[in-house]
Amino acid sequence: MNNRQLFLQHVAQTSDAPLALEIVKAEGMYMWDADGKQYLDMIAGISVCNIGHCHPAVVKAIQEQAQTYMHLLVYGEFVQSPQVAYATYLTRHLPSSLNSVYFTNSGSEATEGAMKLAKRHTGRTEIIAFKNSYHGSTQGSLSIMGDEYWRNAYRPLLPDVQHLLHNSMEMLDSITERTACVIAETIQGEAGVLAPAVEWLQALRKKCTETGALLILDEIQCGFGRNGTLWAFEQYDVVPDILLLGKALGGGMPLGAFIANRDVMWSLTNQPVLGHITTFGGHPVACAAGLAGMKALIEENMMKEVAAKEKLFLELLQHPRIKAVRSRGLMLAVELEDFPANKKVIDHCIKNGVITDWFLFAPQCIRLVPPLIIKEEEIRTACKIILSGLDTL
Ligand SMILES: Cc1ncc(COP(=O)(O)O)c(C=O)c1O
Repeated sequence: MNNRQLFLQHVAQTSDAPLALEIVKAEGMYMWDADGKQYLDMIAGISVCNIGHCHPAVVKAIQEQAQTYMHLLVYGEFVQSPQVAYATYLTRHLPSSLNSVYFTNSGSEATEGAMKLAKRHTGRTEIIAFKNSYHGSTQGSLSIMGDEYWRNAYRPLLPDVQHLLHNSMEMLDSITERTACVIAETIQGEAGVLAPAVEWLQALRKKCTETGALLILDEIQCGFGRNGTLWAFEQYDVVPDILLLGKALGGGMPLGAFIANRDVMWSLTNQPVLGHITTFGGHPVACAAGLAGMKALIEENMMKEVAAKEKLFLELLQHPRIKAVRSRGLMLAVELEDFPANKKVIDHCIKNGVITDWFLFAPQCIRLVPPLIIKEEEIRTACKIILSGLDTL
C-alpha cells in the first residue's frame, strides 16, 4: 500500500472525503507534495502559520530546546525557562490586567480551562455564548458551540448554557448576576468572518462588568496579527477578563493559553488545589517555538502591511459570482451562491496549486487566511486562480 492508502486505512478519519494531499515539505508561503508540485498556502493551517511555515528562528529555537530538555514534569511545578520567558513576553504585550498565563496544548483546552476558571472565580454556573461561534470540539467547548447541527449528536452536553444572537444589543439583557462568564470570539471565524459592531462589544464589556460576569474573548483564530493589530480586541478598545489564545501562539507547534489577572487565576490553586491539571500544557519545546515565532512576528514587522494586503485582495476579488467579501485584515471570507459552487472553486484552486478551504458554519464561503508574509505578487496569483475558478461556474 502507498502512503495515501495507509493514511486512509490507519489514520482515523473525520470525513469521507479528506483532501489527502501528501505534503512532504513546507516553507514560508509554500508547500510541496510527493510529486514535487508546489502549492501556495492561502489558509496557513487554519490561522496557525501566521509567520509562514518553518520560520528559521522557530526551527532553531525548537532544535536548541529539544537538545536542552523536553518534558520534565506536569504543568506548574518546575520553573521552566521557556514557559517563563514566553509568559513574560506575552504579558508585556497585553494590557496590564492580563498578567497571568496558563499554557495548554490546544485552543479547546484553553476554552475548557477558562470556563472552569470563570465558574470557580464567580461561584456561578451559567455560561453565555453566541450563535455561530466556535470554541473547540471537546465536550465543554462543543456545549458552547453556536450551531445545533454540529452539537446535537453529542448530547447530553454541559447544562446552564445559553446561546444569544451575536451582535444584538437586546440580547445583552440576558446577562445577569447568575452568569459566570460570557464567551465570544472577538471576530467570529467559522461563521465566515463576522466582525461585531464596536458599540456592541463595548456594551457587552459594560454589561459583564455591571453583573460581575467574566468576559472571555476567544482570539485563537483572530489573534496574533491576523487583523493587523497584535490582538483583535485592541481595535474595539475593550479588555477581556480572560483571553483565549491558540493556533499561531505556538509558531507551528501545539500550544494554547488562557490568560487572566493573577488574582482571578489564583482560584485554581485552592479548594481544590490543582484546579486545572495538564501533563503537557506549556511544553518547553512548544513554548520556545512560540516565543521565537511571536518575536519574529513583532520584530520583522509582519503586521505592518496587513491592511494594504487586505485592500489588494478586496480590489482583485471582483466577479459576478461573488455575493460578498467580508474581511478583517488577512482574514477573508468570499461568499458564493452555495457549498457546491464553493467546492468547485476550491477544487479548481487546489488543482492549480492554491490551497484554500471553506468555513464550518459558512460552507458557501471561500476561506482566505494566508500567512501574513504573503507578497503582492502572491496575492495576485491566488486571486487570478480563484477568479478563473469562478469562471467555471
Ligand atoms: C475561534 C476558535 N476557538 C477555539 C478553537 C479550538 O482550537 P483547537 O482546535 O486547537 O482545539 C478554534 C479552532 O479552530 C477556533 O477557531
